[in-house]
Amino acid sequence: MKNTAIILASLMFASCASTSSTAREEATAFDLDEAIEYCNQQVHRSIRNLCNDSTDYSMIPRNIQGADSVWACRKATPDEWCSGFWPGVLWYDYELTGDSLVREKAMRYTGELGYLSQRPIFDHDLGFLMICSYGNGYRLTDDSEYKQVLLASADSLATLFNPNVGTLLSWPRNVEMFGGHNTIMDNMINLEMLFWASKNGGDKSLYDIAVKHAETTMNYHFRPDGTCYHVAVYDPVDGHFIKGVTHQGYSDSSTWARGQAWAVYGYTMVYRETGDKRFLDFACKVTDAYLKRLPEDMVPYWDFDDPAIPQAPRDASAAGVVASALLELQGYVEGDKSAEYRDAAVEMLASLNSPAYRSGEKRCSFLDHSTGHHPAGSEIDASIIYADYYYIEALARLKKLETNGTALASL
Ligand code: GLY
Repeated sequence: MKNTAIILASLMFASCASTSSTAREEATAFDLDEAIEYCNQQVHRSIRNLCNDSTDYSMIPRNIQGADSVWACRKATPDEWCSGFWPGVLWYDYELTGDSLVREKAMRYTGELGYLSQRPIFDHDLGFLMICSYGNGYRLTDDSEYKQVLLASADSLATLFNPNVGTLLSWPRNVEMFGGHNTIMDNMINLEMLFWASKNGGDKSLYDIAVKHAETTMNYHFRPDGTCYHVAVYDPVDGHFIKGVTHQGYSDSSTWARGQAWAVYGYTMVYRETGDKRFLDFACKVTDAYLKRLPEDMVPYWDFDDPAIPQAPRDASAAGVVASALLELQGYVEGDKSAEYRDAAVEMLASLNSPAYRSGEKRCSFLDHSTGHHPAGSEIDASIIYADYYYIEALARLKKLETNGTALASL
């Protein structure tokens, strides 16, 4: 089985014309099963560190910074957007290994988030919180309680929709700060919960809201070259687009790497859910805009336009998000384009799996070198839980591609 994984990566790169295939294969081939085993070992290290008889499971891993080797945890509260990723990591690890201890921990941590579905919504991040935890949990267990929590969460998320604008209000708390109805690119990811609910007993209007949000965002949130603003601001009454600005990027006119990564992942998912070719073409456009800005090792600097490059920090989390998305997108396009996306995804994963990005012995995370909120000076060059989440999701998709010939993986 191990050899199969190595051959898979090598074959993909044998067709690359720009570099000698041997050099390229050496640089990029990696052992998928070894990478999965590494993740399982790191998960067990984390569990050993986090869990004992008096563990408070509402304290959930968020980051590892500086000389620390173990997770700094945060309480699962409505305003802590990252609490779903650790349960999601556990669900993927369980899916890949069948490890019963990991399944038990996945259930324990997931259960701590359920109350959020019954609270007035704080912001759009309810999608991240619930898709990664309950979404994966339901996908793998068919537990009807998980389904009810997801349906309630989708209804709650939909209350942020403003029909005058045609998008969800991402940050209700920041309307005054931005001068209008704000929608951030990250919000694209959370449409998945609306699509899921519309297919699983929820109101059909949830589908229409998700499609409208994706259309409006496609029309206003991007520059002609396919790069995006982080934040689009609209008039909440007449709906007109006021401005595109940044919050977590270098400047209003720069391209924040993770924002572009959310666009790649988001439009790929919207195409899956709608079958609408406009969204496929757009997913390819925003993907190509991302790929052509990458440095040699396929892991972006935190913002593609930071003048400090090449001294600027990287963002491994963006690489994980895009690798996962590309393993899906390659299945929707044909011929050379499909091979290009698939090769790029494998090259990203090989790079993340290399000593340059692996946390290895020194930390119990999977990956180092992610950047959270650079302008705020927060989580710069750190291990961050969402980087691990999208990395293991990408490994799971690659494993499915290798085993079944398709990486398609909806909730
Ligand atoms: N959704 C927040 C971020 O990507 O940092």
